[in-house]
Amino acid sequence: MKKLFAVLLSAAMLVGTVFAFAACGNTNNLKVATNAYFPPFEYFSGNAFTGVDMEIASGMAKDIGYDGMTVSDMEFDAIIPAVQQGTCDIGMAGMTVTDTRKESVDFTDEYYESAQVIIVKSDDTTFDACTSAEEIENILKTKTSAYKIGTQRGTTGYMYSAGNEDFEYDGFPNLTTSGYDTGAVAVQDLANGRINAVIIDKQPAIMIAQSVSGVKVITDYELTSEAYAFCVRKGNTELLEKANAYLKKIKENGELDRIITSFFDGTATFKHNNA
Ligand code: ARG
Repeated sequence: MKKLFAVLLSAAMLVGTVFAFAACGNTNNLKVATNAYFPPFEYFSGNAFTGVDMEIASGMAKDIGYDGMTVSDMEFDAIIPAVQQGTCDIGMAGMTVTDTRKESVDFTDEYYESAQVIIVKSDDTTFDACTSAEEIENILKTKTSAYKIGTQRGTTGYMYSAGNEDFEYDGFPNLTTSGYDTGAVAVQDLANGRINAVIIDKQPAIMIAQSVSGVKVITDYELTSEAYAFCVRKGNTELLEKANAYLKKIKENGELDRIITSFFDGTATFKHNNA
Protein backbone atom coordinates (compact mmCIF):
# COMPACT_ATOMS: atom_id res chain seq x y z
CA MET A 1 0.00 0.00 0.00
CA LYS A 2 2.76 2.35 1.00
CA LYS A 3 4.56 1.54 -2.23
CA LEU A 4 1.43 2.08 -4.30
CA PHE A 5 0.95 5.44 -2.65
CA ALA A 6 4.52 6.40 -3.43
CA VAL A 7 4.05 5.39 -7.05
CA LEU A 8 0.82 7.36 -7.33
CA LEU A 9 2.44 10.34 -5.70
CA SER A 10 5.41 10.39 -7.99
CA ALA A 11 3.15 9.86 -11.00
CA ALA A 12 0.96 12.75 -9.88
CA MET A 13 4.00 14.94 -9.48
CA LEU A 14 5.30 14.10 -12.91
CA VAL A 15 2.19 14.31 -15.04
CA GLY A 16 0.37 17.41 -16.14
CA THR A 17 -2.86 18.36 -14.47
CA VAL A 18 -5.30 17.53 -17.22
CA PHE A 19 -4.73 13.82 -17.48
CA ALA A 20 -3.36 13.09 -14.04
CA PHE A 21 -6.31 11.03 -12.86
CA ALA A 22 -6.73 9.12 -16.04
CA ALA A 23 -3.05 8.18 -15.74
CA CYS A 24 -3.62 6.46 -12.45
CA GLY A 25 -7.12 5.15 -13.15
CA ASN A 26 -6.89 3.40 -16.46
CA THR A 27 -4.08 0.90 -16.61
CA ASN A 28 -4.91 -0.26 -20.10
CA ASN A 29 -4.06 3.04 -21.71
CA LEU A 30 -0.74 3.60 -23.47
CA LYS A 31 1.00 6.09 -21.19
CA VAL A 32 2.74 8.67 -23.35
CA ALA A 33 5.34 11.12 -22.04
CA THR A 34 5.78 14.36 -23.93
CA ASN A 35 6.59 18.06 -23.65
CA ALA A 36 3.71 19.81 -25.38
CA TYR A 37 5.36 23.07 -26.46
CA PHE A 38 6.79 21.82 -29.69
CA PRO A 39 4.40 22.47 -32.56
CA PRO A 40 3.63 20.83 -34.95
CA PHE A 41 4.75 17.67 -33.14
CA GLU A 42 3.02 18.24 -29.79
CA TYR A 43 1.19 21.24 -28.44
CA PHE A 44 -1.97 22.16 -26.61
CA SER A 45 -5.14 23.06 -28.40
CA GLY A 46 -7.16 24.36 -25.46
CA ASN A 47 -6.63 21.65 -22.89
CA ALA A 48 -6.23 18.87 -25.45
CA PHE A 49 -2.96 17.53 -26.76
CA THR A 50 -2.55 17.70 -30.50
CA GLY A 51 0.18 17.42 -33.14
CA VAL A 52 1.95 14.83 -35.28
CA ASP A 53 3.23 12.72 -32.38
CA MET A 54 -0.11 12.82 -30.56
CA GLU A 55 -1.96 11.62 -33.61
CA ILE A 56 0.53 8.81 -34.18
CA ALA A 57 0.24 7.92 -30.47
CA SER A 58 -3.52 7.75 -30.56
CA GLY A 59 -3.58 5.51 -33.65
CA MET A 60 -0.78 3.36 -32.31
CA ALA A 61 -2.42 2.84 -28.91
CA LYS A 62 -5.56 1.43 -30.48
CA ASP A 63 -3.72 -0.57 -33.11
CA ILE A 64 -1.44 -2.36 -30.67
CA GLY A 65 -4.09 -3.36 -28.16
CA TYR A 66 -4.58 -0.54 -25.67
CA ASP A 67 -7.97 1.03 -24.87
CA GLY A 68 -6.60 4.45 -25.60
CA MET A 69 -3.80 6.73 -24.49
CA THR A 70 -3.00 8.95 -21.55
CA VAL A 71 -0.61 11.78 -22.28
CA SER A 72 1.55 13.33 -19.57
CA ASP A 73 3.07 16.74 -20.22
CA MET A 74 6.41 17.25 -18.50
CA GLU A 75 9.73 19.04 -18.92
CA PHE A 76 11.56 17.69 -21.95
CA ASP A 77 14.42 16.41 -19.82
CA ALA A 78 11.99 14.51 -17.57
CA ILE A 79 10.75 12.30 -20.42
CA ILE A 80 13.60 9.79 -20.47
CA PRO A 81 13.54 9.36 -16.64
CA ALA A 82 9.74 8.84 -16.77
CA VAL A 83 10.19 6.11 -19.37
CA GLN A 84 13.10 4.55 -17.49
CA GLN A 85 11.11 4.45 -14.26
CA GLY A 86 8.02 3.08 -16.00
CA THR A 87 5.80 6.01 -15.04
CA CYS A 88 5.19 6.25 -18.76
CA ASP A 89 5.42 3.55 -21.42
CA ILE A 90 6.72 5.60 -24.31
CA GLY A 91 8.32 8.98 -24.95
CA MET A 92 6.86 10.73 -27.99
CA ALA A 93 8.31 14.21 -28.21
CA GLY A 94 10.05 14.95 -31.50
CA MET A 95 12.98 13.31 -29.79
CA THR A 96 16.23 13.01 -31.71
CA VAL A 97 18.05 9.71 -31.53
CA THR A 98 21.48 10.25 -29.97
CA ASP A 99 24.12 7.81 -28.76
CA THR A 100 23.93 9.15 -25.22
CA ARG A 101 20.15 8.74 -25.05
CA LYS A 102 20.51 5.21 -26.45
CA GLU A 103 22.38 4.31 -23.29
CA SER A 104 19.27 5.11 -21.23
CA VAL A 105 16.35 4.03 -23.46
CA ASP A 106 15.59 1.99 -26.55
CA PHE A 107 14.49 3.87 -29.66
CA THR A 108 11.97 2.77 -32.27
CA ASP A 109 12.67 3.13 -35.97
CA GLU A 110 13.02 6.74 -37.07
CA TYR A 111 9.93 8.48 -38.45
CA TYR A 112 11.06 12.01 -39.28
CA GLU A 113 14.24 13.82 -40.34
CA SER A 114 14.98 17.17 -38.80
CA ALA A 115 17.69 19.79 -38.27
CA GLN A 116 18.52 22.71 -36.00
CA VAL A 117 18.08 26.20 -37.40
CA ILE A 118 18.65 29.66 -36.00
CA ILE A 119 16.01 32.32 -35.27
CA VAL A 120 16.97 35.99 -34.93
CA LYS A 121 15.12 39.30 -34.76
CA SER A 122 13.57 40.37 -38.05
CA ASP A 123 15.81 43.43 -38.31
CA ASP A 124 19.01 41.50 -37.47
CA THR A 125 21.25 41.44 -40.55
CA THR A 126 24.12 39.43 -38.97
CA PHE A 127 23.55 36.35 -41.12
CA ASP A 128 22.09 37.97 -44.22
CA ALA A 129 25.16 37.46 -46.37
CA CYS A 130 25.59 33.79 -45.39
CA THR A 131 25.32 31.20 -48.12
CA SER A 132 25.91 28.07 -46.01
CA ALA A 133 25.55 26.65 -42.51
CA GLU A 134 29.32 26.83 -42.21
CA GLU A 135 29.25 30.59 -42.75
CA ILE A 136 26.66 30.95 -40.00
CA GLU A 137 28.90 28.91 -37.71
CA ASN A 138 31.93 31.02 -38.59
CA ILE A 139 30.08 34.15 -37.56
CA LEU A 140 28.89 32.51 -34.32
CA LYS A 141 32.52 31.60 -33.56
CA THR A 142 33.45 35.30 -33.55
CA LYS A 143 30.88 36.25 -30.90
CA THR A 144 31.70 36.92 -27.25
CA SER A 145 29.94 35.89 -24.06
CA ALA A 146 27.70 38.96 -24.46
CA TYR A 147 26.03 37.14 -27.37
CA LYS A 148 23.25 34.94 -25.97
CA ILE A 149 21.65 31.96 -27.64
CA GLY A 150 18.46 30.50 -26.16
CA THR A 151 17.60 26.81 -26.50
CA GLN A 152 15.24 24.38 -24.80
CA ARG A 153 16.99 22.67 -21.89
CA GLY A 154 18.08 19.10 -22.51
CA THR A 155 17.58 19.25 -26.27
CA THR A 156 19.89 18.72 -29.19
CA GLY A 157 19.60 22.47 -29.83
CA TYR A 158 21.26 23.04 -26.47
CA MET A 159 23.88 20.34 -27.22
CA TYR A 160 24.66 21.91 -30.59
CA SER A 161 25.05 25.40 -29.17
CA ALA A 162 26.87 24.55 -25.94
CA GLY A 163 28.88 21.70 -27.47
CA ASN A 164 28.48 18.01 -26.83
CA GLU A 165 31.05 15.35 -27.55
CA ASP A 166 28.62 12.46 -28.03
CA PHE A 167 26.37 14.52 -30.27
CA GLU A 168 29.61 15.38 -32.10
CA TYR A 169 29.30 19.15 -32.13
CA ASP A 170 31.98 21.38 -30.62
CA GLY A 171 29.52 24.12 -29.80
CA PHE A 172 30.37 27.77 -29.30
CA PRO A 173 32.09 28.10 -25.93
CA ASN A 174 32.89 31.72 -26.83
CA LEU A 175 29.27 32.80 -26.49
CA THR A 176 26.54 32.19 -23.88
CA THR A 177 24.06 29.36 -24.34
CA SER A 178 21.01 29.41 -22.06
CA GLY A 179 18.55 26.60 -21.41
CA TYR A 180 14.86 27.51 -21.29
CA ASP A 181 11.83 25.50 -20.17
CA THR A 182 10.51 25.61 -23.72
CA GLY A 183 11.71 26.86 -27.08
CA ALA A 184 8.65 29.09 -27.29
CA VAL A 185 9.65 30.98 -24.14
CA ALA A 186 13.15 31.45 -25.58
CA VAL A 187 11.64 32.94 -28.75
CA GLN A 188 9.65 35.39 -26.63
CA ASP A 189 12.86 36.46 -24.91
CA LEU A 190 14.40 36.96 -28.34
CA ALA A 191 11.48 39.13 -29.41
CA ASN A 192 11.87 41.14 -26.19
CA GLY A 193 15.57 41.68 -26.90
CA ARG A 194 16.86 39.68 -23.92
CA ILE A 195 18.81 37.26 -26.10
CA ASN A 196 20.30 37.41 -29.60
CA ALA A 197 19.20 34.16 -31.18
CA VAL A 198 17.35 30.89 -30.61
CA ILE A 199 18.47 27.50 -31.91
CA ILE A 200 15.71 24.94 -32.24
CA ASP A 201 14.39 22.24 -34.60
CA LYS A 202 13.35 23.59 -37.99
CA GLN A 203 9.62 22.95 -38.20
CA PRO A 204 8.94 24.02 -34.59
CA ALA A 205 11.05 27.13 -35.34
CA ILE A 206 8.82 28.01 -38.26
CA MET A 207 5.62 27.49 -36.30
CA ILE A 208 6.75 29.21 -33.12
CA ALA A 209 8.11 32.18 -35.08
CA GLN A 210 4.77 32.56 -36.84
CA SER A 211 3.10 33.27 -33.54
CA VAL A 212 5.64 35.82 -32.29
CA SER A 213 6.11 39.13 -34.06
CA GLY A 214 9.52 40.58 -34.82
CA VAL A 215 11.51 37.37 -35.39
CA LYS A 216 12.67 35.50 -38.49
CA VAL A 217 13.87 31.93 -39.03
CA ILE A 218 16.89 31.28 -41.22
CA THR A 219 15.44 28.15 -42.79
CA ASP A 220 17.85 27.79 -45.68
CA TYR A 221 20.80 26.59 -43.64
CA GLU A 222 20.46 23.46 -41.54
CA LEU A 223 22.98 23.37 -38.71
CA THR A 224 22.59 19.69 -37.82
CA SER A 225 21.20 16.53 -39.31
CA GLU A 226 18.92 14.56 -36.96
CA ALA A 227 16.14 11.98 -36.93
CA TYR A 228 13.22 11.54 -34.54
CA ALA A 229 12.08 8.30 -32.94
CA PHE A 230 10.00 7.23 -29.94
CA CYS A 231 11.66 5.80 -26.86
CA VAL A 232 10.70 2.95 -24.52
CA ARG A 233 12.28 1.49 -21.41
CA LYS A 234 15.46 -0.44 -22.14
CA GLY A 235 14.58 -4.06 -22.75
CA ASN A 236 10.87 -3.46 -23.35
CA THR A 237 11.09 -5.34 -26.62
CA GLU A 238 7.40 -6.20 -26.61
CA LEU A 239 6.35 -2.55 -26.88
CA LEU A 240 9.31 -1.70 -29.11
CA GLU A 241 8.35 -4.37 -31.64
CA LYS A 242 4.69 -3.38 -31.62
CA ALA A 243 5.55 0.30 -32.04
CA ASN A 244 7.91 -0.53 -34.91
CA ALA A 245 5.29 -2.71 -36.59
CA TYR A 246 2.81 0.16 -36.34
CA LEU A 247 5.34 2.67 -37.71
CA LYS A 248 6.11 0.33 -40.61
CA LYS A 249 2.41 0.01 -41.37
CA ILE A 250 1.74 3.76 -41.41
CA LYS A 251 4.87 4.43 -43.45
CA GLU A 252 3.71 1.91 -46.04
CA ASN A 253 0.04 2.87 -46.22
CA GLY A 254 0.66 6.61 -46.41
CA GLU A 255 -0.89 7.42 -43.03
CA LEU A 256 2.36 8.87 -41.63
CA ASP A 257 2.72 11.25 -44.58
CA ARG A 258 -0.92 12.23 -44.25
CA ILE A 259 -0.51 13.04 -40.55
CA ILE A 260 2.69 15.03 -41.09
CA THR A 261 1.24 17.03 -43.98
CA SER A 262 -1.93 17.78 -42.05
CA PHE A 263 0.03 19.56 -39.32
CA PHE A 264 2.51 21.35 -41.56
CA ASP A 265 0.19 23.94 -43.02
CA GLY A 266 1.59 26.49 -40.60
CA THR A 267 -1.71 27.31 -38.95
CA ALA A 268 -1.07 25.76 -35.55
CA THR A 269 -1.89 28.09 -32.69
CA PHE A 270 -0.59 27.14 -29.32
CA LYS A 271 0.08 28.39 -25.83
CA HIS A 272 3.59 29.53 -25.00
CA ASN A 273 3.42 28.16 -21.51
CA ASN A 274 0.80 26.52 -19.39
CA ALA A 275 0.55 29.22 -16.75
N1 ARG B 1 14.69 17.16 -31.33
C1 ARG B 1 15.19 17.82 -30.18
C2 ARG B 1 15.76 16.83 -29.18
O1 ARG B 1 15.52 15.68 -29.27
C3 ARG B 1 14.16 18.67 -29.48
C4 ARG B 1 12.95 17.96 -29.01
C5 ARG B 1 12.06 18.82 -28.16
N2 ARG B 1 10.79 18.19 -28.03
C6 ARG B 1 9.76 18.70 -27.29
N3 ARG B 1 8.65 18.04 -27.28
N4 ARG B 1 9.92 19.78 -26.62
O2 ARG B 1 16.48 17.18 -28.28
